[in-house]
Amino acid sequence: MAKLKSLDDLLVHELQDLYNAEGQIVRALPKMIKAANPPELRAAFEEHLEQTEGQIERLEQAFKLLGMPAKGKKCDGMAGLLEEGKKMMEEDAEPAVMDAALISAAQKVEHYEIASYGCVCTYAEMLGYEQVHDLLGQNLEEEETTDEKLTMLAESVINVEAEEAGE
Ligand SMILES: [Fe+2]
Repeated sequence: MAKLKSLDDLLVHELQDLYNAEGQIVRALPKMIKAANPPELRAAFEEHLEQTEGQIERLEQAFKLLGMPAKGKKCDGMAGLLEEGKKMMEEDAEPAVMDAALISAAQKVEHYEIASYGCVCTYAEMLGYEQVHDLLGQNLEEEETTDEKLTMLAESVINVEAEEAGE
């Protein structure tokens, strides 16, 4: 018999993936905060670190509502994205170019999370888990807001600086 028999099983599987992914993000963000130059970018990363801790708590509540232990399952996708980010931070780059690259790395992470939270939100809704859906929807919204904020930061300051640095 297949291990994933139902949408319920898939929901739990994906929540375990997200729970592990968020934990990886909490460990990676302090390095990104250190590597960022403009105070606005540092502040955005700092805010997202705090938000991520809240998201982990919501995931724990979701597990509880589903009667499952809060347990992660290694998220290879996030590990890969963060590994690429780490390698990039080791590059010798102009500060403004590094900032642009940090934003790019962070947005890749956000898009992974938006895809995952979008899916689990849909599953929870289809399965009639209203409270779980509500919790996951809050996380989804925060990721979307963060992504938009990063786009604005990239457009307003950082990409302009990177262009100037290359002139
Ligand atoms: Fe997150």
